Amino acid sequence: MGTHQSKGRKHHSPKEKRLPLNSVSTESYASRATNVNPMYKVIDGRRYLVSNNAIYRLPIDDAEVDRLHLQHYTYRYYYGSNCSAPVEEMLKQGRARVLDVGCGAATWLLEMATEYPTCFFTGIDISPMFPTEIKPKNVHFIQRNAIDGLPFPDGTFDFVFMRMMYLSFTSDQWENVIVRELSRVLKPGGWLELMECDQSLSDMGPLTTDYADKASGILEDLGIPMNLTELMPDYIDTVGCFEELTAEPREIPIGTWGGNLSQMYLDNVAAAYQTLRTSVNRYNISAEKWDEITQEVKREINERHCSVRSIRFYAQKRDTGKLMSLK
Ligand SMILES: C[S@@+](CC[C@H](N)C(=O)[O-])C[C@H]1O[C@@H](n2cnc3c(N)ncnc32)[C@H](O)[C@@H]1O
Repeated sequence: MGTHQSKGRKHHSPKEKRLPLNSVSTESYASRATNVNPMYKVIDGRRYLVSNNAIYRLPIDDAEVDRLHLQHYTYRYYYGSNCSAPVEEMLKQGRARVLDVGCGAATWLLEMATEYPTCFFTGIDISPMFPTEIKPKNVHFIQRNAIDGLPFPDGTFDFVFMRMMYLSFTSDQWENVIVRELSRVLKPGGWLELMECDQSLSDMGPLTTDYADKASGILEDLGIPMNLTELMPDYIDTVGCFEELTAEPREIPIGTWGGNLSQMYLDNVAAAYQTLRTSVNRYNISAEKWDEITQEVKREINERHCSVRSIRFYAQKRDTGKLMSLK
């Protein structure tokens, strides 16, 4: 398997492979999957997850929901679409099952569910930032730590999607649990799409480089891979059940030079890094000082016209693909 940057799109015939929607009950999965009951701590007015079995350090609160909405619209604008895998025909035909792992505020899922009302969408997240009351009928959410495995039988979904999860899993978890589980629950002939951004920005100045190094030190200690976009093709390849992998990159401008959305994206990037303020005492930097540095870094990023590369990786599971079980 290799990666390429063009769209070698091959449409599969999902009709032959799909189960009727009522053949598996997502509701019953939900009841089996409520083994996660996250605890939270509030630091300086932000709410964080406390879990022995999750390394995620970004806040889980309304401000974070707003940040995730903004991030979603930025990606949709720069890619011109919600996803890159060639699933549109399949979704238009209806009755396809779609899974979004780490769905967050579920902006992607809710848009997709509205666009394809005859398909069936499931979102999983360790924290319930997703809407529980007002949502389309064809969407279900499950609160679940993905590290515990995905609560679905092999080959359940036609399209499995996961985006911006680089702060959620260790290298070992990416390789040995997450990508394998995503692949396992995918039907033969189904599509996997993973989207992540490079760790570093283009054209970083000295202040941003030092800031990014410090941030990397904190994340590395948690076991988070520093070069996920480089590792991703290998993670997918190692599962051994995919056709050719396509990598579709986009350069996203950060700051006023890229227009309104990019200006807001600068706030988004800074807001994400600023949340590390709770961990910077290891550098003898107070949280307040980190906030100040964050503002200076924002200025530098803006002045230097930095950008970040985002990549959507997608691949089709072979019809004969072996199903990888965790057990
Ligand atoms: C940066 S957000 C991305 C959300 C969404 N994918 C998007 O693109 O808007 C990461 C999400 O992963 C979730 N998460 C973190 N660790 C997780 C885990 N172990 N299992 C399931 N979800 C997790 C967080 O609660 C958060 O909603």
